[in-house]
Amino acid sequence: MQLSALLTTAVALAVANAAAVDTHLPRQEDTSKPGGYTEDNNADIYPSPMANGGKWSDAYEKASNIVGQMSVKEKAELITSVSGPCVGNSPGVERLGIPKICLMDGPTGPRPVHGVSQFPAGVTTAATWDRDLMYKRSKHMGQEFFDQGVNIALAPVASGPIGRSPLAGRNWEGSFPDPYANGRYAYESVTGLQDSHVAATTKHFIAYEQETFRHPYNTSAPDDIVEVGEQQPISSNVDDYTTHTLYLGPFAEAVRAGSGYMMCSYNEINGTHACNDPYTQNHLLKTELNFQGATQSDWGGVHLSKESIETIEVSTPGTDPSYKMGTFWSDLDELVNNGTVAEDRVTDAAIRFLLPYYWLGQDEEHVPPEVIFNGNDGYDAPDGYRNVRKPETRETIRMIGTESITLLKNAEGEMGLPLNKPQRLALIGSDLGDNMIGDGCPPNGNGCPEGNFNGTLTDGGGSGYAIPPYTVTPLDAIKKRAIEDGIEVSYAMTDDNEVINEISSRADAALVFIKNHATEEEDRHDIDLTQDQISMLDAAVNASSNVIIVMHVPGVVNIEKWADNENVTAIASAWYPGQESGNAVVPILFGDESPSGKLPITWGKTLDDYPPNTISHDDSSSPQAEFSEGVYIDYRWFDKQGIEPRYEFGFGLSYTTFECSDIKIADNYKKDDKAIQETAEPFEGFDGSNSLYDMIKTVTATVTNTGEREGSEVAQLYVTLPGEDMPVRELKGFEKVKGLKAGESREVTFDLRLKDLSVWDVVKGTWVYPEGEYTFAVGNSSRNLPLSTTATH
Ligand SMILES: *[C@@H]1O[C@H](CO)[C@@H](O)[C@H](O)[C@H]1NC(C)=O
Ligand SMILES: *[C@@H]1O[C@H](CO)[C@@H](O)[C@H](O)[C@H]1NC(C)=O
Ligand SMILES: *[C@@H]1O[C@H](CO)[C@@H](O)[C@H](O)[C@H]1NC(C)=O
Ligand SMILES: *[C@@H]1O[C@H](CO)[C@@H](O)[C@H](O)[C@H]1NC(C)=O
Ligand SMILES: *[C@@H]1O[C@H](CO)[C@@H](O)[C@H](O)[C@H]1NC(C)=O
Ligand SMILES: *[C@@H]1O[C@H](CO)[C@@H](O)[C@H](O)[C@H]1NC(C)=O
Ligand SMILES: *[C@@H]1O[C@H](CO)[C@@H](O)[C@H](O)[C@H]1NC(C)=O
Repeated sequence: MQLSALLTTAVALAVANAAAVDTHLPRQEDTSKPGGYTEDNNADIYPSPMANGGKWSDAYEKASNIVGQMSVKEKAELITSVSGPCVGNSPGVERLGIPKICLMDGPTGPRPVHGVSQFPAGVTTAATWDRDLMYKRSKHMGQEFFDQGVNIALAPVASGPIGRSPLAGRNWEGSFPDPYANGRYAYESVTGLQDSHVAATTKHFIAYEQETFRHPYNTSAPDDIVEVGEQQPISSNVDDYTTHTLYLGPFAEAVRAGSGYMMCSYNEINGTHACNDPYTQNHLLKTELNFQGATQSDWGGVHLSKESIETIEVSTPGTDPSYKMGTFWSDLDELVNNGTVAEDRVTDAAIRFLLPYYWLGQDEEHVPPEVIFNGNDGYDAPDGYRNVRKPETRETIRMIGTESITLLKNAEGEMGLPLNKPQRLALIGSDLGDNMIGDGCPPNGNGCPEGNFNGTLTDGGGSGYAIPPYTVTPLDAIKKRAIEDGIEVSYAMTDDNEVINEISSRADAALVFIKNHATEEEDRHDIDLTQDQISMLDAAVNASSNVIIVMHVPGVVNIEKWADNENVTAIASAWYPGQESGNAVVPILFGDESPSGKLPITWGKTLDDYPPNTISHDDSSSPQAEFSEGVYIDYRWFDKQGIEPRYEFGFGLSYTTFECSDIKIADNYKKDDKAIQETAEPFEGFDGSNSLYDMIKTVTATVTNTGEREGSEVAQLYVTLPGEDMPVRELKGFEKVKGLKAGESREVTFDLRLKDLSVWDVVKGTWVYPEGEYTFAVGNSSRNLPLSTTATH
């Protein structure tokens, strides 16, 4: 607290300084480090670095030419959102041929729009551990955004939240609580969207790990979002080592993927609003990561006009009066005209804002069609909506759903999964069926009752929820299959014990569908199932010796009461699968495909297994969240504390068996060829031409299918770095070996980049490749690593 108070003062002083003097202080160039990085972190907090376009020189030229022709007012208007049909709307500059620019939610598809798909959630996609599917999902999603006329998609979620707490309301929108895997996911998600010519907005920057107190709530009326609250948003107090090691890494990968935009988060960082925090925006993002695009605020994330234009480029919702969070930047031109803000800053913001537009060719080859929806009012144009869905998208959604299903428990032999030629099935749970009012009605607000969300869960709530065109429920798909296979089906979409007892006891297998809701605006209170779900499970387990549990959940839920029960013959997590839910689960239940999902999180036994107090309930007027566990979240925490989880990170069963063999490590140099934009992260050993992302070693191993049927396995590489107080192991590679036939072997190669073997040195302010012994272990989960080898640096 002491430190954060000091920092706030320092920032306040810096802000005052920036106002008083010409803001363009010369930056100290240090040519021994990439990007002319300076030793003194504070030296480049102000002014915000000017973009030079990086590898987008043509786009930079176009953007700076056109911005050069704009008046102060035009530049200011371009970067300030106004009301319109989209969630965010830049008015463009008509005089110069810059059209209106449309920004739309969200990470599971365009929202709120009809005529699009509801994609699987981020956590679901992560559970596939399949980089091709991560890319494909975003590619298809990008096509739908583009074809609806959207320029800028407000997706993907990288590390913010990363999943510091299993309770965080938006974890399901993101991916892994691991910086390496999360970064790979971010990279694929950004390139997928942008290969469809829609710009990505990687979010939420940075250390946004809880919903509780995310807004400046009025403490007397905590549900009101007020313009000027009595309360500050939650402050994430994170040290420099943790910031670099855990939270910043995925954003570095997003920059490398060429993410056009970033979104600053609602929380404060060390006592400063994220959207006007010069250290994270001007230093970490624009200097260290050399980000060339523009940062836009989360909706209502701007609280101070002048301070925020010194750090970010776009104010949303800007001057749109329909939001309760205040209007900001309507006076931006005045601030420039009276010398409070340097014109260069606004010029740079406008250039940065237009860079992705030109780079993606939205001005010429890839002009999005006209927007015909109205995202504010019933969602439809007077003559209906534009359906942009394609059949192949449906199949990709289905495939991600199937490939993500993570089998956690399974009986040997006749029981459990896959279903063994049953004659009679009992299906149990409200999660089997449709929502009562149909799917066009989103669960949060917009005139639909909260209770509407009482059928199957395919997505979480809030701005990350996309309206599905239909939902193939588990009941729809299982019934269809049962009819084809001549199976009798009875179902109970109720928690009535008698009914459940009755139908379960008469069936060969009782399939219980469990659900757990998570949403933006609210953290989960615990990881327990609701009472109706608990009593449903109790009743089924009491009456059937072949209970199969399928879960539609955002993350871990407490299943300790049933996990060891011998009547529970199988447990699988199907996450939030999107519109094809039933079609995704049937191939696994009936054995057409072998499950191949792996846990993208650690499945603990109780909430107490996880680091304590990771959701701060500090109800003071300026609530603080101390990130005192540092980098030790999820499996890093369980490993360090020696806690036995129920199921470990990376774990998932199959219908076949695999073995890994022949681990080899080799020095192998390959220049980085994946950077669409290059970061300027400082590292020891920079020689003027090498990169922190050059490959320096490879680890290879062989995966063999030792079972009797085809299946896919995820080979995982964990590295133990030398040094005191390092994590027991850290994920540094994964590869999904797909469609391996019985008896077949395949070699996998993990590329290790310099960064993957480096640590952040807080004293030197640089990445270093430490000397010492490294252990490389390969297997099929974070706790089943039969192969290992070492190498010394
Ligand atoms: C906070 O809410 C209380 C109760 O509704 C109200 O009286 C008060 O004016 C509010 N304060 C602010 C700053 O909006
Ligand atoms: C927060 O403050 C700590 C202590 O002064 C500092 O080390 C760290 O870099 C700051 N973190 C961020 C993200 O600003
Ligand atoms: C500059 O303009 C802003 C916005 O109108 C105003 O709030 C501020 O007081 C002005 N500053 C000076 C130094 O005139
Ligand atoms: C589902 O929600 C609808 C609409 O609110 C309500 O009428 C219905 O009773 C609910 N059904 C269940 C099973 O909760
Ligand atoms: C368990 O089964 C017994 C015998 O059928 C019944 O009396 C009891 O109510 C059941 N309990 C639950 C939780 O279903
Ligand atoms: C398992 O199910 C059988 C019915 O098949 C029941 O008699 C038994 O009590 C159940 N066992 C448990 C531990 O609930
Ligand atoms: C994981 O590896 C073990 C051997 O280490 C093997 O028995 C098992 O079949 C593998 N599990 C899966 C799901 O592939």
